[in-house]
Formats: sequence, C-alpha cells, structure tokens
Amino acid sequence: MKATRSIYIVTGALLAMVATLSAVTYRATETSASQLALIVLLLVAAPLVARLVVVRERRGEEERRALQAQLLQAQKMEAIGKLAGGVAHDFNNLLTAILGYTSLILEEAPAGSNIHNEASQVRRAAESAATLTQKLLAFSRRQLLQPQRLDLSELMTDLHSLLRRLLGERVELRFDTTRELWPVIADPVQIEQVVMNLAVNARDAMPDGGILSIGVRNVSLPEGDKRADHVVLPGDYVQVLASDTGTGMDEATRVRMFEPFFTTKPKGKGTGLGMSTVYGIVKQSGGYIAVRSAPGVGTTVDMLFPRAASDVPAVAATPTVEGELGGSEMILLVEDDAAVRELTASALERSGYRVISAALPEEALRVARNLQYRIDLLLSDVVMPGMLGPELARQVKALRPNVRLLFMSGYAADVISSDMLQEAALLQKPFSSTVLTRAVRHVLDAQPQNV
Ligand SMILES: Nc1ncnc2c1ncn2[C@@H]1O[C@H](COP(=O)(O)OP(=O)(O)OP(=O)(O)O)[C@@H](O)[C@H]1O
Ligand SMILES: [Mg+2]
Repeated sequence: MKATRSIYIVTGALLAMVATLSAVTYRATETSASQLALIVLLLVAAPLVARLVVVRERRGEEERRALQAQLLQAQKMEAIGKLAGGVAHDFNNLLTAILGYTSLILEEAPAGSNIHNEASQVRRAAESAATLTQKLLAFSRRQLLQPQRLDLSELMTDLHSLLRRLLGERVELRFDTTRELWPVIADPVQIEQVVMNLAVNARDAMPDGGILSIGVRNVSLPEGDKRADHVVLPGDYVQVLASDTGTGMDEATRVRMFEPFFTTKPKGKGTGLGMSTVYGIVKQSGGYIAVRSAPGVGTTVDMLFPRAASDVPAVAATPTVEGELGGSEMILLVEDDAAVRELTASALERSGYRVISAALPEEALRVARNLQYRIDLLLSDVVMPGMLGPELARQVKALRPNVRLLFMSGYAADVISSDMLQEAALLQKPFSSTVLTRAVRHVLDAQPQNV
C-alpha cells in the first residue's frame, strides 16, 4: 500500500513539475491562451490529486485497522466464551448433582425439621448458581435452543406491557415496526431474554427518565456492505434497533460490555452478565450485534437476524413445544454421561416435564424406592456402569408397575440385545430436543407396555 501511495505522490510531483516547466517556458515560446489554461489547471490539479490519494489511502488504512480490531475483539470473545462455557458446563454438572441430592434429602427429611430447612437453603443457593451458569452457557452459545419461525414484531408487541412495567413511569417506550416483516428462525424465549436485558440496561442508564425506542424492520445488505462495527454477510435480515437517551458509554466501557462479569454498576446491583447473554443468544441465532454509544447522548444496540428461508412453511417449523410435545409428567432420567444428562434434563424441563436425574442405576433405584411422587416415565441410558438399562427397568418396574419406559443409546441397535429392550422404545443418540420430546410424548401417550 505504501508503494501505491509513493507512485501517486511521484505522479503528482511529476505533474506539478511538468506544469511548472510549462509555465517557465511559456514566456520563451509563444503559447496560446488555451495552453496557458491547461498549465494553470495542471498547477491546481497536481496538489489536489495528491491530496485525494492520501485521503483515500488513509481511509483504507482506517478500514483495515477497524477490521483488525473487530477480528481481535471476536477472537477475545471466542476465547472468553470457551473458558466461561467450559467452567459453566462442568459447574452445571456439579450443580445437577447438588440439586439432585438436595431434592432427595428434602424428600426424605420431615418437613419442618432442621435438616429439611438446611437443605432448602442449599437448594436455594444452588438454584441461584444454576441461573448464573445458565447465563454463562448462553454467552458461550452452549444453550439448548428451541428455534422456531418467528415474527419479531409480533413478539415485541406481546412484550409491550411487560416492558412498560419494567421501564417505570419516567421512561417513555416508543415502538416502531413495519407490517410486512420477514420471519426469522429463533427461540422466542431467548429473544425475550435479549429484549428484557436491553430494556433493563436502558432503564438503568436513564435514572432521570428518557426514551427507549425499539425499531424493527427489514434490511437487505448488498454484497460488500460494511457496517460500522462488524462485518456482516450480505443478505436479508430483520433489524432490531434499541436506542436509549441515557448516559451512554465511553469507548473503554463499550468495547468491554459483552464480557461476562463486566459491569460498571455498584456491587450487588449488576452481575455483568446481561450483555454477555444477549451477545451469546444473538450469535447462536446466527445474528449480528453492534453497539454505538456516546457519553451524554445515549446508546443504540443494533441487531440483525437472518431472514428465514422462504421454503420454511408459514406454520411454525417446529411446533410449539408447550402445545404439542410438552407435558407435566414426572420423568426419571438415568444417564451416566453428565453432558447428555444435563441437556436431556433441560430439554425436558423446558417442555414442562418434571425431571429427576440420576447418574447411575443405583441412584435411580433409590429414587424409585423413596420418591413420594408418581414416576410416569423411566428414560434410561442402556449401557451404564454397574447395571444395564433393561435390568434397571425391570427393577424399577417391580417397584413402580405403571412406569413407562424409553431407552436411549449411542450404540447401534443390533449391539444391544435384550428382550425388554425389544419391547420398549429406543431413542438413538445423538438426538435433537425435538426428537427427544416427541419420543417422550409418544411413549407417554401410547398404550401401556406389558413388560
Ligand atoms: N444502555 C446502556 N447505556 C449505558 N451503559 C450501558 C448500557 N447497556 C450496558 N451498559 C454498560 O455495560 C455494562 C455491562 O452491561 P450488562 O448488562 O452486561 O451488565 P449489568 O447491567 O451491569 O449487570 P446485569 O445485566 O448482569 O444485571 C453495564 O454495567 C454498563 O456500564
Ligand atoms: Mg444489564
């Protein structure tokens, strides 16, 4: 790039020299008025051309630097995300165990006893910890999403009264949307989470009141379009803009706002996980997010969600889980792989089921023996340490004759040969949450199994 600049500058200088030479020789030779005009023009043009070149060069340099900064920022977020996600993931497994065992203690200890009260405290603390790790999982995009075809405008409209209450008297909420909004594929619960976090931040940035404007519209980004803060693939997007007239942020705050635990709020006021969650959800939904802010002026959060492909049917692509696949039955989940257990449990819980997780068959048997509630379904891994799934099922059935069975396995079906397995339903790993909830609903709704 330096070379091009030099070429331009040399050309500029040559032009200037030619012009000067011509001017000098003008007196010596008889030159016409038009030639004189040309010389003057050259004299004026040379420095202008050189200047133009330098300005263009500088702009190019700025763009490159901005891109470089974006890349570094993206790499930083990726690294923090990996770290946070790893910790959160392992921590979540530990919490599953803490919560699971605490539930067992709570079941066994008489209500009102010291142990019961103390165990309730443990459970409360573990539940707060679980909320925290959930946010970190959201940031690191390890959340189990239930994406569906969504009209963002409709979703925002539904949130209107909730937002109004959240923002309080002093903040005015302005809402601007178009009728023919393109659909996007996203998890509505998560998008609500995004909007709520942005609204809370906006409210906190406007202690003396102000305006929060939320705009939703279609945008088509042509090839080569570069946004101020991020590089976006060309295509059709639904843009969500949330602008407040609050305190705004300086640049140092703005560049760190997505980092988990970064907060400028006093201790106890903010955890610094709001924007991390927002970042993770937007990214996991295939979208883009950028923030513009100026101290004393306000903040604009700019999000782009890719338009859903037109071949996605108009009806929800994934039927709303609550309506069609959900339930409230009690499921005993037995799985020795912590990650699978956790994902399976949270997928089921999101669909409304109550889930008790056990890592080992012995634990599951303890639950089956002691739990005061009805267990509707045993959802069990097949190959586990200590006891195979079918044997566990037989023993659970002996304790709870009405329980339904669903096995899950990563082994090819022919590796597992058991009479009971052949009679019961088998879910092949890995499975999506939709496949899981569909299988669970199917087994629960089927005629009783006679095993
Ligand atoms: N709309 C905004 N206006 C001004 N500053 C903001 C805005 N949104 C975020 N910030 C800044 O970014 C920081 C991080 O925001 P984030 O939502 O992640 O955490 P928090 O609001 O401090 O805490 P939490 O959301 O976990 O309760 C905030 O502390 C604040 O300094
Ligand atoms: Mg916040």
